[in-house]
Amino acid sequence: MERVFSGAQPTGNLHLGNYLGAIRNWVELQKKYECIFCVVDMHAITVWQDPKELRSNIRELAASMIASGIDPENQVLFNQSQVSAHAELAWIFNCVARIGWMNRMTQFKEKAGKHRENASLGLYAYPSLMAADILAYKATHVPVGEDQKQHLELARDIALKFNTDYGVEGFFPQPEPLILGPATRVMSLRDGSKKMSKSDASDMARINMTDDADTLAKKIRKAKTDPEPLPSEAAGLEGRPEAKNLITIYAALTNSTVADVLTEHGGTQFSGFKQALTDVVVENLAPITEEMARLNADPAYIDSVLAKGAERANVIAQPILKEVKEIVGFLNS
Ligand code: TYM
Repeated sequence: MERVFSGAQPTGNLHLGNYLGAIRNWVELQKKYECIFCVVDMHAITVWQDPKELRSNIRELAASMIASGIDPENQVLFNQSQVSAHAELAWIFNCVARIGWMNRMTQFKEKAGKHRENASLGLYAYPSLMAADILAYKATHVPVGEDQKQHLELARDIALKFNTDYGVEGFFPQPEPLILGPATRVMSLRDGSKKMSKSDASDMARINMTDDADTLAKKIRKAKTDPEPLPSEAAGLEGRPEAKNLITIYAALTNSTVADVLTEHGGTQFSGFKQALTDVVVENLAPITEEMARLNADPAYIDSVLAKGAERANVIAQPILKEVKEIVGFLNS
């Protein structure tokens, strides 16, 4: 039995990294697999979220998933807090996972920064909830960007330790990360050593899914590059992270490879290439942005999709959770 699960946080500013690293791949996978896609609102509140903004970000993220091509009729699309199995299983996993494992998580270190003692307990336990998201459905495949790989490894460790501790070999599967396509780690437009991120203080560092054509053109024109022309071969991108990033984005959006892009554009100046890149980005994003605007105007429809999705998610998760509770030794009524 193969089942795909993935999620994204409703923290605003869905960007091209989220799209190329994750959501676009989900759209392809739904053609072959049973898929469950989740707006992870409980993960979002591991750092402060204004309640009013959170509510609208949940709806907007669901709308952008649908606008990108997720099919809410044939797949399950829902928000995490509407299915209590996530929280219940996460608690059990908190008791399976070891503190030492959490201490190794690079995302926690980055997000907590210097104020580690002041970070929420939820931010620390974040990967345990993520393991619960996946394993509440016994999902076998998890399409994510590169930055989530370590969390996926932890989910595999939790699954294995649960199976071993309770003597139920094979109960939870070992979920496989699917890190697909050329753009598994899209970088900031201002600094090729930092990933494109929702939380970057500078909006010029990212391409938002809601940016209009003029904004996209401006951001790409101002994107950091070096003074050299484009190389003709991939080896020539060594030590040129900003150049590599723009070329990778172009390759991903045109469904080609970095080598193909360099054969076509090698030797040209970045000013010309940036114009070509702008055209490709606008062409890809404009229909999605337009559809997002249409869906955002109909919150009742989005709410009904999420409610129906939560019902369907519950039908899958509840029997699994019931079995987990029996295994652990809880009394089931
Ligand atoms: P989140 O909301 O940060 O990002 C959603 C997806 O986008 C990918 N991504 C990127 N890919 C390429 N380049 C980038 N610059 C970039 N930035 C983000 C992420 O890898 C992710 O696939 N913890 C997860 C959400 C989550 C989840 C899960 C995912 C919660 N539970 C269970 C899978 C399975 C997160 O914060 O993603």
